[in-house]
Amino acid sequence: MTTTNTSIRKAVIPAAGLGTRFLPATKAMPKEMLPVVDKPAIQYVVEEAVNVGLTDILMITGRNKRALEDHFDRVPSLESTLEAKGDTTKLEAIQAASNLGDIHYVRQGDPMGLGHAVLRARQHVGHEPFAVLLGDDLIDARDELLSKMIEVQAQTGGSVVALIEVEPSQISAYGCADIDDTDMNGFVRIRKLVEKPEAAEAPSNLAVIGRYVLHPAVFDVLEHTEPGRGGEIQLTDALQELAAGEGEGYGVYGVVFRGRRYDTGDKLSYLKACVQLACDSDDLGPGLREWLPEFTASLAK
Ligand code: UTP
Repeated sequence: MTTTNTSIRKAVIPAAGLGTRFLPATKAMPKEMLPVVDKPAIQYVVEEAVNVGLTDILMITGRNKRALEDHFDRVPSLESTLEAKGDTTKLEAIQAASNLGDIHYVRQGDPMGLGHAVLRARQHVGHEPFAVLLGDDLIDARDELLSKMIEVQAQTGGSVVALIEVEPSQISAYGCADIDDTDMNGFVRIRKLVEKPEAAEAPSNLAVIGRYVLHPAVFDVLEHTEPGRGGEIQLTDALQELAAGEGEGYGVYGVVFRGRRYDTGDKLSYLKACVQLACDSDDLGPGLREWLPEFTASLAK
C-alpha cells in the first residue's frame, strides 16, 4: 500500500445523461436541474463538493447545458430587484448558488455512458486524483462520506467507491462489489465489480452509489474500455480493470456509507427524497409533518 499526500481539489460532475426515466420533464432540461424541495439536485451536489474543499468543479454537460450554466451564474437584475424589495433571504439564496467554487463546463457530445463522460474530464483533471459526484445521489450534509473517501484514496493510492448495503432483491439496480474480507479501518478492498447483477449472481449486497474518488490511471483504462451493458462505456468496467490489475494507480477500495442518502434517479425515489428532505427543512417541515399523517389516513379510507 502506498501513501500519497496529494490533496484533492477537483470534482467532476457528469450531467450529460438523457434522463429518460424522467421524460417528459427532462426533454429540455437536464435531470440534475429537477428541484429537490427548493434547490435543483445539482446544487446539493456542488455544495457537498465545496464543503470538503473541492472548489474546482468540472461539469460534463450535454445539449441542455444552458440551464446548468445559468443556475450557477449571477443574475444582476434579479439581485437588484430583491435588494430593492429588501428581501435578503431570497437574495442570499440566489447568490449562494453563484458563489460556489470555480465551475467549468465541457460537453460530452454523444452521451455514450458514464465512463465516456468521465473520460471527457481528462484534460481538465490532468495527473491528479479527483472526485466524481453524480447528481442522482444526494448525501445528507450532516453525514460524512466524501472526506473519508479522500482520506482512503490518499492512504491507498488507488481509487475509491462509495458502497451501501441494500436488500438482495435491489442489487440488480446497482453496480455490485465483491470485497476482500480484511478489515482495513473503515474501508474494504474490492476484488471485483459487477454491473447490475441478477440477485442470484450477485457477489454481495454492497451496491456502488454515485461518489467516487479516482486515481487518474482510470483515464488510460477508459481510453480502451469497450461499450458494455446497454452499449454504453461503463465506469464500472474501467474500475473492474483497476481492481483486478496491479501497478501505480491500481487497486479499488470501498467506503461503506451508513448515513442518510436520497436517491433521486427515478420518479418514485425522487418523490420520496423530496418528502424526506422537506420534512427536515425548518420552514416546510412543520407543515408537511402535520399534513402527512392526515393525508395517509385519508388514503386508508
Ligand atoms: P444514468 O445511468 O442515471 O443515466 O446516469 P441518465 O441518462 O442520466 O438517466 P436515465 O437512466 O436515462 O433516466 C448516471 C449519471 O451519469 C451521467 C448522468 O447525467 C447521471 O448524472 N451520464 C450518464 C452522463 O453524463 N453521460 C452519459 O452518457 C450517461
